[in-house]
Amino acid sequence: MATAGSAIGLGNIWRFPFMAGEHGGGAFIVAYIICSLFIALPCFICESLIGRRGRGSAYSSMQVLAPGSGWKYMGAVTVFASFVLVSFYSVVGGWSLDFLGRALTGHLAQGRPDEATAIFGRMASSPAESVLMDLAFLAATSLIVLGGVKKGIERFTKITIPLLFALMVAMVVFSVSLPGSAEGVKYLLKPDLSKLGASGWACALGQAFFSMSLGVGTILVYSSFMKKDHGIMSVGVWTAVSDTAFALIAGFAIMPAVFSAGLEPGAGPSLVYETLPYIFARMGAEAPVLGYIVTVAFFLAILVAALTSSISILEVCVEHLVERRGCSRLAAVAAFFVPAALLGVPCALSFGVLGDFKIFGLTVFDFCDNLTSNYLMTLGALAFALFVGWRMKKADVRDEFTNGGTLKASGKLFGAVYFLIRWIIPPVIVAIFISNLIPA
Ligand code: ALA
Repeated sequence: MATAGSAIGLGNIWRFPFMAGEHGGGAFIVAYIICSLFIALPCFICESLIGRRGRGSAYSSMQVLAPGSGWKYMGAVTVFASFVLVSFYSVVGGWSLDFLGRALTGHLAQGRPDEATAIFGRMASSPAESVLMDLAFLAATSLIVLGGVKKGIERFTKITIPLLFALMVAMVVFSVSLPGSAEGVKYLLKPDLSKLGASGWACALGQAFFSMSLGVGTILVYSSFMKKDHGIMSVGVWTAVSDTAFALIAGFAIMPAVFSAGLEPGAGPSLVYETLPYIFARMGAEAPVLGYIVTVAFFLAILVAALTSSISILEVCVEHLVERRGCSRLAAVAAFFVPAALLGVPCALSFGVLGDFKIFGLTVFDFCDNLTSNYLMTLGALAFALFVGWRMKKADVRDEFTNGGTLKASGKLFGAVYFLIRWIIPPVIVAIFISNLIPA
């Protein structure tokens, strides 16, 4: 449940629908499912295997498993990637917090559908509001991490993930009943792979890694707490399947409403937060009390889902400092809070006053998002796959994968999974990565 909590978050509900909207709808979904099951899942297994066998952060696990080698420096890469990730993730988490406030005061369920899509623009272009919400979310993440990750996560996740699931399914039913929504359903169900291109495949791969929290050491650190009798394969399959299912449900909850509201599917990161108020305003118009309850429950659940992801990411950074420098958790949390807040501010302002400030043609927010998912996570996952496939001894990999030979089903699958990790995953990641770098 904890790894699912780390995986299921804003990546599914906020990022997946807008990525699908930017890359041809159904075509992106096909690429995303292929990448999730055939690339991300084996990469999950690699990261999990390293964490459980090494029993520490990326740095110390690598040091235990490959003493005296340079692999341990992957630790620093994961910390940098997690730091950038948590910095811009907090901005979107802040939007959820802001929208929870609006839901509680009745502004969403009692709003007018024709005005609802403009709420996000007003919020994001207010420097004080977006920065404050970003900092509040980052502070909440930091406080939970300070309290120690292991205690509360599973308890929270056991309630919120099923709640969010039920709410999302209800939203799919409502969304497809809206006038004009059929176009959105068609958009998702009719894959036109010619629209995808190399960048679409790269984004599908990046989305799969982002959504399963791979390549940044999160799954590695969580797996270092995993019991010896848990099967790595079954945890991986459970995480991949639930995470992918969540993304697909979110896509079908959002995209029909996008078409119904007359929004542009390729609108980018703002898409979902423009669409949600529209859905809830229409719901509130039809059933005011139920609409209010669903709106509040939804933003509460999404906020907790975002927090269970962000704490897992910040934990990578904190664990590294505590372990490497021997500092207290308080000092480690503070050491990341300040720079993450400083980077978060221009990210938060990217949707308003800093909208025209570009790095390589991207706003600061888009640059950080792109850098993390399409580069750092992808290369991180590649490094972990290479480590398991080529650096660890095959017998050790088998031992960890099958729990010392006690898991019969994993034993039968081992040959195929190992082949995939060794021969298929690295060249495929490299090919997608390079083809994305070549201008179309
Ligand atoms: N895996 C996390 C999410 O999807 C980062 O939100």
